[in-house]
Amino acid sequence: MAEAITEQGRKVAAHWSGLAITYEGAVEVLRAAGIDPAAARAEDLHAIDMIHMGGLAATDALAQQAGISPGERVLDVGAGVGGSSRRFADRYGAIVTSVELSETLARTAERLNELVGLSSKVTVMNASALSLPVESANFDVVVMQHVAMQIAEKDQLFGELSRALAPGGRLALHEIFSGEGELRWPLAWATDPSMSALEPLESAMARLRGLGLSPGEFVDESELGQHFHLNVIERWGPAADANKTASGLAPEVLKKRVAASRAMEHNLRVGSLRVGRLVAVNAA
Ligand SMILES: C[S@@+](CC[C@H](N)C(=O)[O-])C[C@H]1O[C@@H](n2cnc3c(N)ncnc32)[C@H](O)[C@@H]1O
Repeated sequence: MAEAITEQGRKVAAHWSGLAITYEGAVEVLRAAGIDPAAARAEDLHAIDMIHMGGLAATDALAQQAGISPGERVLDVGAGVGGSSRRFADRYGAIVTSVELSETLARTAERLNELVGLSSKVTVMNASALSLPVESANFDVVVMQHVAMQIAEKDQLFGELSRALAPGGRLALHEIFSGEGELRWPLAWATDPSMSALEPLESAMARLRGLGLSPGEFVDESELGQHFHLNVIERWGPAADANKTASGLAPEVLKKRVAASRAMEHNLRVGSLRVGRLVAVNAA
């Protein structure tokens, strides 16, 4: 990656590199489901390639809220292993650029794109959202899912997202915000406060307006998020407790993810965290 990465960025990238599905893990999951990896389709990966609450259903809801249409240029910022990027290309016909800070995850995204034959529609860049290696005003839709809560430099981040948007373009956010009351730790993205940068929804809205964007309705998915984490605990808790692998994830990864889900479920239930979707239009 060309530009300097911040100390917080280094910690964040290492955190996700250790928690996300690997290429080998994905292939193992496909084989276990009786799917020949050489014949795999993007949708065969979606149960394991999305790192956000609500998984595929949330990605589809965001794509529809943003009105992603065939041929549109979509920038997916903090794309992880590229699950949503592949969905936007495969189901909605978009031409996608994925930007991901972690070199490990960016490489996995690239290999999974190749595996399911989407390399010509999805380009992966290993870079920071704080300095996007893209031309200004070049995207119809800029998407960001579960990323801002771990980036302290909010003005710089949203300045970059807005710079990438074409006039009339849409910024589609599926993000996590602070609520009222104490947080229980660890969070899904942070084992300690130095790795977290939550803000209230209202501050994010004010920043968007200050950048000339018009935010639409916030669709609160906190209850769905709570159920999502209950489901993770139910599905992976027994394997984590028994020191076993599941869904292509190693036991130590499962343990960390289940511990985070227990705290996340609590925080969403008591209202110290909120999650939801929002589309803001670039009025320029
Ligand atoms: C919770 S995951 C979400 C991944 C993906 N958006 C998804 O929903 O499947 C957060 C991702 O944001 C990436 N990220 C964090 N800070 C970033 C930055 N400054 N620039 C680019 N990516 C970043 C992390 O490496 C991680 O892959």
